[in-house]
Amino acid sequence: MLVLGLESSCDETAAAIVEDGHRVLSDIIASQVDVHARYGGVVPELASRAHVANVVPVIEQALNDAGVTLDDIDGIAVTQGPGLIGALLVALQTAKAIGYARNIPVVGVHHLEGHLSAIRLEDDYPPYPHIALVVSGGHTSLMRVDGPGALVELGATRDDAAGEAFDKVAKLLGLGYPGGAVVDKLAQTGDPTAYSLPRPMTKPETKLEFSFSGLKTAVLNLVRQQGLPEGQALADLCASFQATVVEVLVRKTRKAAKQEGLKHVQVCGGVAANSGIRAGLREAGEKDGFRVYVPPPIRCTDNAAMIAAAGTYQLERGERAGMDLNANSGLPLPSETSA
Ligand code: KG4
Ligand code: ZN
Repeated sequence: MLVLGLESSCDETAAAIVEDGHRVLSDIIASQVDVHARYGGVVPELASRAHVANVVPVIEQALNDAGVTLDDIDGIAVTQGPGLIGALLVALQTAKAIGYARNIPVVGVHHLEGHLSAIRLEDDYPPYPHIALVVSGGHTSLMRVDGPGALVELGATRDDAAGEAFDKVAKLLGLGYPGGAVVDKLAQTGDPTAYSLPRPMTKPETKLEFSFSGLKTAVLNLVRQQGLPEGQALADLCASFQATVVEVLVRKTRKAAKQEGLKHVQVCGGVAANSGIRAGLREAGEKDGFRVYVPPPIRCTDNAAMIAAAGTYQLERGERAGMDLNANSGLPLPSETSA
């Protein structure tokens, strides 16, 4: 089964062709970093306009790179939500238009189900059930994944998402947008013990929940008191901040694996590209005896191959969206919908 995946939920316009939910024939991502960088964050209206300009070219390139035409496509999988409504609508309406014109079935995919499916594109992927740590710009949660589309949320953030914390700290340190990758790079030359920052939500009664807004405020207060760090001090602060986030994420993931008695753990979403979280979880896995699965960095951040992988299961199950398929900026998780 050849599936065309489309994604436009935030600031990446992406199209990919995936065979049988596993083999990536092409994977095209048009990033809008240049459009939003001067504003220090994503400007929704500019994102929508850039998606409109990019969506057809990325689809054409995805088809060309895969050496196929629309005649070969068996299904179209498109992100339905959550995300920016004006941005989501661009790929969604394009998917419906192509589906209608070429008589190709279309399915709407939950963006997080996409992130959770990115690992299925690798040779080595976790069996079900497994634990998933989902860490992106908009979400931070621990889940038990019982199968495709069968999710049980074990805990989530009470405020900011992990990626949001990286982005906000990067912004207040003058490192621009998007911040996660820059903080990660600087952290590699810094001393993670240089600054002592609060480790949020580590008391037992906080269970598997997270909170990152206090940590961001702690960095803000530090900058207010000591001024903007430069050179080695900047690298040290990035390293200390990252080590704190990693410590909390790793601690809670170990707890979730233990609680559920599961030996396979995946981490996905943009923050899964972080070198500290990748290393920290692998180390914890070796200690506790669970295996850690992480997609390559380019499949941690937003892409359409993961949407095609998730959509393939839905198409195989016989799901078909009607012409009334609509974008939903607050789309609930699949398990919540069916409950
Ligand atoms: O999954 P994603 O591309 O978009 C959402 O669904 O939100 O995640 C984007 C987030 C941003 O907050 C970005 O700063 C963060 O992932 N990110 C990173 C790294 N690369 C991307 N955070 C920490 N370290 C990285 N290397
Ligand atoms: Zn995402």
